[in-house]
Order: sequence, then C-alpha cells, then structure tokens
Amino acid sequence: MPYLRRVSIFLLLLLTLLFFLFFAVSCQNEHLSATKSPGEKTFRALCSSCHNLPSPKYYSLDTVLEQIEEHKLTKKINLTKHKDEELISYLQETFNQK
Ligand code: HEC
Repeated sequence: MPYLRRVSIFLLLLLTLLFFLFFAVSCQNEHLSATKSPGEKTFRALCSSCHNLPSPKYYSLDTVLEQIEEHKLTKKINLTKHKDEELISYLQETFNQK
C-alpha cells in the first residue's frame, strides 16, 4: 500500500495548497474594496449604472457639480446629504488630479 499512501499525502498537500490560494485571493479582494473611498462607492452605486465618471480632461469640477444638480431634477437620483458630501469630496479629489 505505499503507493496509495503517497497518493493520499499528495492529495492532502494539494488541498492545503488550494485552500491557501483561495484564502489569499479572497484577502486581496477585500483589500481592493477597502481602498475605495466611500465617495467612489457612491458613484458606482448611483452613477455608473448609466455612465462612467466624465473624464477630468474634458470636464471641470464645476460642470460636474452643476450636472449633478440638474440630474437630481431630471433623473431619479437619491442622494442623501451624507452621500452627497462623500461623492463631492471624491469628485474634488479626482478632478484636482489634472
Ligand atoms: C439615469 C441615468 C443617469 C444616472 C443615474 C446618472 N447620469 Fe449623469 N448623465 C446621464 C445622461 C443621459 C447624460 C447625458 C446628457 C444629459 O442628460 O445631460 C449624463 C451626463 C452627465 C455628465 C456630463 C455633463 C455634460 O454637460 O455633458 C456628468 C458630469 C454626469 N452625467 C454626472 C453624473 C453623476 C455624478 C451621477 C451620479 C450622482 C450621474 N451622472 C448619474 C444619465 C445619468
């Protein structure tokens, strides 16, 4: 039976390896979502269903803020005051990186 034993040890090692691999990958995902600012998450939740963030190359921060006000009237966007502030500080960061 030495052959069978060797195979089972090999399988055990393989399973352990897979387990660690899975663990490492899920940690990485958590890390990625933790690095997103709350404002970026708000953008993803509220805006990106229709379009991506307008490029800072072609839009100024003022245009975007005006557009959000207009959007609030014409599109069904539900921004609480708190989310609004988070979103605006995210936009400010993004649009100041020109
Ligand atoms: C229901 C779909 C929808 C959602 C949700 C939405 N937008 Fe828009 N957005 C549009 C459309 C359509 C346009 C193109 C022209 C228009 O309607 O003014 C646009 C255009 C824009 C523009 C370009 C303005 C211009 O003058 O060309 C900006 C900036 C913008 N949106 C920001 C946002 C932000 C920030 C959010 C999230 C708070 C958001 N949008 C959510 C549909 C949406």
